Amino acid sequence: MKKQFGVGIMGLGTVGLGTATILMKNKETLTGRRDGEIKVVSVLEKRVDQAKKDLEKIGIDPAIVTDDFERFMTADGLDIVVELIGGVTVAKEYILKALNSGKSVVTANKDLMAIHGKELLDAAEQNKVDLRFEASVAGGIPIINVMKHDLVANEIECFMGIMNGTTNYILTRMYEENGDFNDILKEAQALGYAEADPTADIGGFDAARKVAILASIAYNSRVTLDDVFVEGIEKIDARDIAAADNMGYVIKLLGIAQEVDGEIEARVHPMMIPKKHPLAAVGDTFNAVFVHGNAVGETMFYGRGAGDLPTGSAVVADICAVVSHMKNGVLGIEGCTCYLNKPIRAQENFISKFYLRMCVKDSPGVLALIAKIFGDYGVSIASVIQEKGDHQQAELFIITHSVREGEFMKAKEVLMNTDAVYGIENIIRVEKD
Ligand SMILES: NC(=O)c1ccc[n+]([C@@H]2O[C@H](COP(=O)([O-])OP(=O)(O)OC[C@H]3O[C@@H](n4cnc5c(N)ncnc54)[C@H](OP(=O)(O)O)[C@@H]3O)[C@@H](O)[C@H]2O)c1
Repeated sequence: MKKQFGVGIMGLGTVGLGTATILMKNKETLTGRRDGEIKVVSVLEKRVDQAKKDLEKIGIDPAIVTDDFERFMTADGLDIVVELIGGVTVAKEYILKALNSGKSVVTANKDLMAIHGKELLDAAEQNKVDLRFEASVAGGIPIINVMKHDLVANEIECFMGIMNGTTNYILTRMYEENGDFNDILKEAQALGYAEADPTADIGGFDAARKVAILASIAYNSRVTLDDVFVEGIEKIDARDIAAADNMGYVIKLLGIAQEVDGEIEARVHPMMIPKKHPLAAVGDTFNAVFVHGNAVGETMFYGRGAGDLPTGSAVVADICAVVSHMKNGVLGIEGCTCYLNKPIRAQENFISKFYLRMCVKDSPGVLALIAKIFGDYGVSIASVIQEKGDHQQAELFIITHSVREGEFMKAKEVLMNTDAVYGIENIIRVEKD
């Protein structure tokens, strides 16, 4: 029986070093649980000198570092390749090479899995090896395993999650301090919670990758990044946060998927959720995924969506799963779960309630006019708050009842071309009660 399992780590950055650290820190327990030692035998890294120093600090032989992929792959005793380089070009090439040479692969790469997941999973299947990617969705929260195994008895009615720590941090701070978006973004960047180029996070694209991956698993049908409707938090203003608060809501950037009439609806956008919703209490950089299964009902999974050790925790769990499969001679049993081919639901068919913040003419009859235009498109108003005007203009905060987005958008176009409406400052979807 094999007693040592060799791991090669590509990319010794935040997650790579976190993974190596956990393998060393918890070595005894991991060895006991798997009845075999999991040993880092090879590291591929561009910054060779820094990687050597980092490995030495955690007690790993620095001589195993190389910047040459062929040398990395031919290290003695290499069984499992862990890809933590990131990006979709080199990482894809290396993962395919590793799979095609019969090595199982563990990755945290959401960008890659959301775009090329099928191709990579097919390659793993053909080579009868594992390709695992737990850390690619919600970092340390073990949601992929939950969806694939622990909730397998269920049909997933919907999932909705806070899947990006940066945006959750910004929205939490805006809520707590009534702060300005740009000021808090700058602070988040200074604290290392937001990238220098924050587009992927605040634009919702990072969360969209995770929705694509998780929806593919939840609905057994391939959902790619292009299938996910995306809207970011750039337009959220302190006035929206305050208005939401007054009306009993908080604003979160949510990744949502559900199946409606045989179609998969996948989207990421800011949403006003009631303060009593379990996701409303998830603050700062934390992530959480709320899942509604038709047998289990409501469940929620909470934790750190990023960071060296939290993400490394999910990577090491995947490594341990591969080791178990190797020991039992069952590598490659968990292939692609997308055996269906369901259509993607168009945005115009989404059903939502909407919040609008509008600047309108401060004169009698304007509210009736707005209600009439909405009514022409089957949109009914659930509540209206009017800020005191100055006899020239007033600010209106409206929440509609549930409506098809196509109808709502047509009404919005008409409103925007109405003389009494000076501007629609923001529109945010509102969770159904
Ligand atoms: N950070 C998180 O909390 C987190 C959470 C969930 C998932 N992930 C995913 O985990 C992966 C790694 O993220 P990370 O934050 O650890 O990134 P990172 O800190 O930038 O680490 C990546 C490392 O790989 C190195 N590298 C890049 N290209 C290489 C190449 N061709 N050959 C050898 N080394 C190369 C980089 O070196 P240079 O710096 O010199 O380029 C860097 O040291 C990404 O796919 C990311 O999306 C990260």
